[in-house]
Amino acid sequence: MSGEAVGRAAGKAILLGEHAVVHGEPALAAALPIGVEAAARPAAGPLAVHVSSWDYRAAIGDGSEGGRALEALALSLGLEPRGVALEALAEVPPRAGLGSSAALAAAAARGLIALAGADPGEAKLFEAVQASERVFHGNPSGLDAAVALRGGLLRFRRGAEPLALEAAVPPLVICHSGEPGRTRLAVEAFARRLESSAEAKQRLARIGELVSAGEESLLGGDLVSLGRAINENHEQLAWFGVSTPALDRICSVARELGALGAKLTGGGAGGCAIALVEPQRRARLAAELAAAGVEVVR
Ligand code: PMV
Repeated sequence: MSGEAVGRAAGKAILLGEHAVVHGEPALAAALPIGVEAAARPAAGPLAVHVSSWDYRAAIGDGSEGGRALEALALSLGLEPRGVALEALAEVPPRAGLGSSAALAAAAARGLIALAGADPGEAKLFEAVQASERVFHGNPSGLDAAVALRGGLLRFRRGAEPLALEAAVPPLVICHSGEPGRTRLAVEAFARRLESSAEAKQRLARIGELVSAGEESLLGGDLVSLGRAINENHEQLAWFGVSTPALDRICSVARELGALGAKLTGGGAGGCAIALVEPQRRARLAAELAAAGVEVVR
């Protein structure tokens, strides 16, 4: 083993269906043009990772979640848990609901297997990213891992083969609420709420219907009805308690400024919201949101 090997993976935005996807409903997600690139190089000591733009370091055995996630990744890939250092460049912000941990795990896995000259196949790669995600999120649906590894626009249902949709990723403005996303906490809160009433179960099923309706709209090029599904999905997520006043505000401001739909994206309880807009209005909406004091990621 010598030299250097680089792995890449994409961040993602969930268009419809986060949280419900953990409980068996479908979800729609798009890979982002921003992601993570991880360079694996031989080094002394336990397997370690450094992400300079996140000011983040972890190593196997350091007692951190990141260290445990790295260990789970290496074990799952059948690789030695030592002798390699990963240096990652991340364009996607951490703890923002944009799939940063899955993108890092997928990029790291690709770098590690390329350096080792191994080819575990896509199913094993997915399992390895999931093993890492379990350390951070407890009960990941697999959506983030699937999009990070495959890219494109996916319809995902837990336990089933993801379906690549024959449509372009719709124009989105991604906005940060200024508060870190707390996926594990939000996933737990959503699950508790789901157990609380029959109404919660109806709302879960309604999110599934919105995903199917949104998929049809997307495939038919109908951004206006996709926007309606996105708006209602946000209201449903807010009912489940995973939005915040800052995310709600971004969504209202984006709609007032002419977005076709807006919702939180990813785990919520902080992190990002997405605003859907006609292609020719994307740049203007991004500028108007920024002028209204909203932090625009891209
Ligand atoms: O916050 P993120 O980017 O990790 O996205 C979480 C998406 C959820 O649906 C809330 C959880 C999952 O495992 O699908």
